[in-house]
Amino acid sequence: MIRINEHYLKLKASYLFSDIAKRVTAYQQRHPDSPIIRLGIGDVTHALPKACIEAFHQAVDEMATDTTFRGYGPEQGYEFLRQAIAENDFKSRGADISTDEIFISDGAKCDTGNIQEIFDINSRIAIPDPVYPVYLDTNVMAGRTGAFQDGRYEGIVYLDSHAENQFIPDLPSEPVDLIYLCFPNNPTGVTISSDQLKKWVDFAVANKAIILFDAAYEAFIRDDRLPHSIYEIEGARQVAIEFRSFSKTAGFTGTRCAYTVVPKSLQVTTSSGDKISIHDLWNRRQSTKFNGVSYPVQRAAAATYSNAGKQQVAELIDGYMTNAALIRKSMQTLGYGCVGGENSPYIWVSTGQDSWGFFDMLLEKAGVVCTPGAGFGNCGEGYIRISAFNSHENVTTALARISQALTP
Ligand code: MLT
Repeated sequence: MIRINEHYLKLKASYLFSDIAKRVTAYQQRHPDSPIIRLGIGDVTHALPKACIEAFHQAVDEMATDTTFRGYGPEQGYEFLRQAIAENDFKSRGADISTDEIFISDGAKCDTGNIQEIFDINSRIAIPDPVYPVYLDTNVMAGRTGAFQDGRYEGIVYLDSHAENQFIPDLPSEPVDLIYLCFPNNPTGVTISSDQLKKWVDFAVANKAIILFDAAYEAFIRDDRLPHSIYEIEGARQVAIEFRSFSKTAGFTGTRCAYTVVPKSLQVTTSSGDKISIHDLWNRRQSTKFNGVSYPVQRAAAATYSNAGKQQVAELIDGYMTNAALIRKSMQTLGYGCVGGENSPYIWVSTGQDSWGFFDMLLEKAGVVCTPGAGFGNCGEGYIRISAFNSHENVTTALARISQALTP
């Protein structure tokens, strides 16, 4: 008799952002004439940079002629994009990453979700709380956890982030095998210094663990002293996999392009004592299960590294960061403690009350969508996340409405 993977039954009924979308749809049905402003899911609103559009068009034209047409591409991505990434995102920052260590994909969500399947089912997993829900949910699906009780899964080592530790989790007090880290953090917007990150790298080396470093928001870092990549830290090539995305950086949420770095120096030992290359395993996994990203999309992504592309991406990010500063300032003026928003498009606001209740109140009274902190883990209770991804005009209107709703 056919059975399902019952680990799926341990999951919460729906994914956080689907839950929010349902509540927003219900609100819209009740108030069809009240326009809402979305500062919830981190979905970009500005058009793709002009350089990307030009490259996109040109690549589509190439597909229209037999001599320049492309069929199946390399599953790992085209050389022109991998090379541009290695040069611009890593070598220019002193991080020793080579072209063939970069795997192009259609999203950091898929990669951070899929990577766990190449590791042993009994691996001890450390996951920050609060954090992007994909890391936890995919380990639940795989069967690495027990039941869900009091907001937590048995078998996971939670790395609590709260005001007392400045939202940077302490090192685990027990040995773990796989450690998820995300900086600039989603949802708190908090960043990590090189010294702090070095402690995690040293911990991973000492414990023969691997760090899964999600750097999807690195382009929003303004403070020059902060690391953009874990490979800027000595020793990281031996213990870390890094995830990046063009989604938030260059407006690719609908276009889809991202990449994962798996250094060739990353090795793990099998139960029989053999050394295995993680790079080889991920390559094997991707070649079997992933079709690659389309040629025009990769050309569009590569255009972000041209001189014009760099300038246009910087303007895009500047616009969102102006919003972030405004959101942070307005919420602080209203008396709410905030972190994030300085090197990140997310502002983590302490509401001092039930986060879904605060979400509902902002939706009902201000017509503004945020993300309830509890959706990112137990430590997110009492907080909301406000995203800076919207037009300047919408953000200004949303803040005026929030101010009115929250002023007695
Ligand atoms: C978020 O709002 O946390 C992100 O947009 C989700 C994602 O990138 O999948």
